[in-house]
Amino acid sequence: MNVVVGVTGGIAAYKAVGVVRALVLAGHEVHVVPTEAALRFVGLPTWEAISRNPVTTSVFDDVSEVRHVGLGQRADLIVIAPATAAAIAKLANGIADDLLGTTVLASRAPLVIAPAMHTEMWQNPATVANIRTLRERGGTIVGPADGQLTGADSGPGRMSEPDEIVAAALAVASGSSAAGSTAGASSSSTGDLAGRRVLVTAGGTREPIDPVRFVGNRSSGRQGVALALAAAARGADVTLLAANLDVAAPTGVRVVAVGTAEELRRAALAESPDHDVVIMAAAVADYRPVEVATAKIKKDDQGDELALRLSRNPDILRELTAARRAGQTIIGFAAETETNRDAQLALGRAKAERKGVDLLVLNRVGWTEGFAAETNEIIVIDAAGGIVAEATGSKASVADRILDLVS
Ligand code: C5P
Repeated sequence: MNVVVGVTGGIAAYKAVGVVRALVLAGHEVHVVPTEAALRFVGLPTWEAISRNPVTTSVFDDVSEVRHVGLGQRADLIVIAPATAAAIAKLANGIADDLLGTTVLASRAPLVIAPAMHTEMWQNPATVANIRTLRERGGTIVGPADGQLTGADSGPGRMSEPDEIVAAALAVASGSSAAGSTAGASSSSTGDLAGRRVLVTAGGTREPIDPVRFVGNRSSGRQGVALALAAAARGADVTLLAANLDVAAPTGVRVVAVGTAEELRRAALAESPDHDVVIMAAAVADYRPVEVATAKIKKDDQGDELALRLSRNPDILRELTAARRAGQTIIGFAAETETNRDAQLALGRAKAERKGVDLLVLNRVGWTEGFAAETNEIIVIDAAGGIVAEATGSKASVADRILDLVS
């Protein structure tokens, strides 16, 4: 297969060497088209040596071969890795002011884009809109992953790993929709949630003990935020009920901050009727302190032991499914510490039935897995208890897999 790999000017360009190498080793004819900025990160000799083909960035080289359109016309697949925010903006607007731009514009080949940028840039409404445009035109967006970025910051924006990009690209080129499969890449759905209203809950509720303390859980809100962003990128109008997130609340979606299970319950019941899809990714406290002290509890008054009495919180998800309006899709999560797959599935099946959800997303949590992690491993079952998807990968790619099912 004739593959063009476009490389744009971000530090993740060094990881794109792995993408080119994997494609060459898989037997494909690879032409690398770096931008001028990309060459400041990884030099031309590296691209020529790895791709085993001459490399140029200029539309004025090899003019007799009409190279500025020839590369695109001959391509069976175009992969852009990394795709910076600027490159994505240019692609979305058909700007062809360099060899990569003309190549993409002159091509009918499937386009696979692996974004890499800082979280604020990825979540900026301009980028969200550009990504949506590219998806609507049939482009496939792989990642970005959620993790450590170049500076001290971390969050969504890290380029997906080369093997993930290559797996997704080859799946797209072979016409398979497996791009969102267990390889962990995003799917190529095109604005498939346009016009839909999606309500996502994220984070963990905190139940006050006194003015300075609470009963809480370790949910970071990453998976819920990834779902909200992925739904927005696929065209949905998204409302995020955010309970004590450890990560920045996303821009480009409507965010309602909540603290306790009761606040989340009230907001969810009020918002749900206006939404076509409800995704309950939040970790809701099952119990809350019976009494909330109005002043800070003092150890001098308590002695060596302090007993907290807790009472059961209402099950919000059950209330939402009981009030489900026609056509509404409701999805629950089940975080379990159970390690045995069959036992985990049995718990999930019972829960799906008890809660009356359309889909239940099962994931394992533990001291290191699930909550605070950058990645997730899920099994999704439907109302009848059948397994409808399994996915492993970044929380962004897992979000896309769940949204494939919603779609
Ligand atoms: O029963 P369990 O807590 O395992 O169920 C998890 C699912 O139910 C999640 O989707 C969670 O958001 C939701 N839930 C809820 N209200 C509760 C407890 C959990 O909506 N009180």
